[in-house]
Amino acid sequence: MSKLIYLDNNSTTPVDPLVFEEMKPYFSEVCGNPSNQHHAAGSRAARAVEKARSQVAAAIGAEPESIVFTSGATESNNLAILGTCRAHPAPVGHIVTSAIEHKAVLEPCRHLESMGWNVTYLRPDGQGLVNWQAVDAAITPQTLLVSIMAANNEVGTIQEVEKIGKVCAHHGVVFHCDAAQALGRMAINVDEWQVDLLSLSGHKAYGPKGAGALYIREKRKAGSLTPLCFGGGQEAGIRPGTLPVPGIVGLGIACALASQRLSDEVGRLHALRRNLLERLAKSCPDLLVHGHPSRSLPGLLSVAFPGVDGDQFLFALRDVAISQGSACTAGSPEPSHVLTALGVGYDLARSSFRFGIGRFTTHEDIETAATEVARVLDILR
Ligand SMILES: Cc1ncc(COP(=O)(O)O)c(C=O)c1O
Repeated sequence: MSKLIYLDNNSTTPVDPLVFEEMKPYFSEVCGNPSNQHHAAGSRAARAVEKARSQVAAAIGAEPESIVFTSGATESNNLAILGTCRAHPAPVGHIVTSAIEHKAVLEPCRHLESMGWNVTYLRPDGQGLVNWQAVDAAITPQTLLVSIMAANNEVGTIQEVEKIGKVCAHHGVVFHCDAAQALGRMAINVDEWQVDLLSLSGHKAYGPKGAGALYIREKRKAGSLTPLCFGGGQEAGIRPGTLPVPGIVGLGIACALASQRLSDEVGRLHALRRNLLERLAKSCPDLLVHGHPSRSLPGLLSVAFPGVDGDQFLFALRDVAISQGSACTAGSPEPSHVLTALGVGYDLARSSFRFGIGRFTTHEDIETAATEVARVLDILR
């Protein structure tokens, strides 16, 4: 084998060639600053930014005015959580989130805890589903914000976002949803979900890295969210700084393609996932599948090969790019906080792997990858 088979599309995706083509002119040909519309270069850039804003908004059923461009979902999550809490009239309050959120949600929550805020980390069930009734029960008169992701990046479980949105609306608390994994893999509608804040990332959906967006329902209402940075007043002062036009254009077209292709893509990804699972189960009969059997992100397959050492497996599987779903810090392997929250033990978590099938994965890729996995399992077991 020599060609690398890329099955890590939940970590990041390649930029779609159509996206890249649209971005190209904005690196040098259309070089203006969209904030400076006294000349044609600036106004062309500004028009491109506004077109992208409409494309992002259309992909999530929102109004263009509710979109703020950011550098990605990490920044969007931080802006949503810290910005909402900073705008709160009381110095501290209460937040409800889940134990399986991305670190870009958990870490701002921990930061707020260190400042005296109270945070409830709800545990999901063994399949990664956060019980909406538990969200309801966790809300107190002090609760300002609920932050629950649309779909989990490690095990792919899709949350009951609409039910959680309804609960938040009923209690009058702000609902933030990290939809980084959802874009292009499932339908998103901010009104049906009743979300107030929603985070998006370009590079998870065949757009460029370093481009993302935050949907803010109350953007036009002054003071709904306090900015984290201060400067030139771009993006209504919520996220100042010269706009990275090529990235924004790329994010816009990526969102448009995500919507256009969604229905075909979902079926195709589910079929490839089924195929992969069947092949893997043949070579490893005691294989375990993490996540939810039906509420599952298309294309994401998280499995454990019991008894297989994670590092050895990944080392031997050099021509297939997958990830282990565990963070290794300074050489000390920590089991994934997501798998741990699902009740998966240390050893099994270390034997767990995420396969992320994407837009450019072919049936042949799946066949070759499955054959390669079988070969490596044979050697290691
Ligand atoms: C669910 C989720 N949230 C947030 C992020 C962070 O996104 P970004 O890389 O755009 O900052 C990721 C990406 O790893 C993710 O999967």
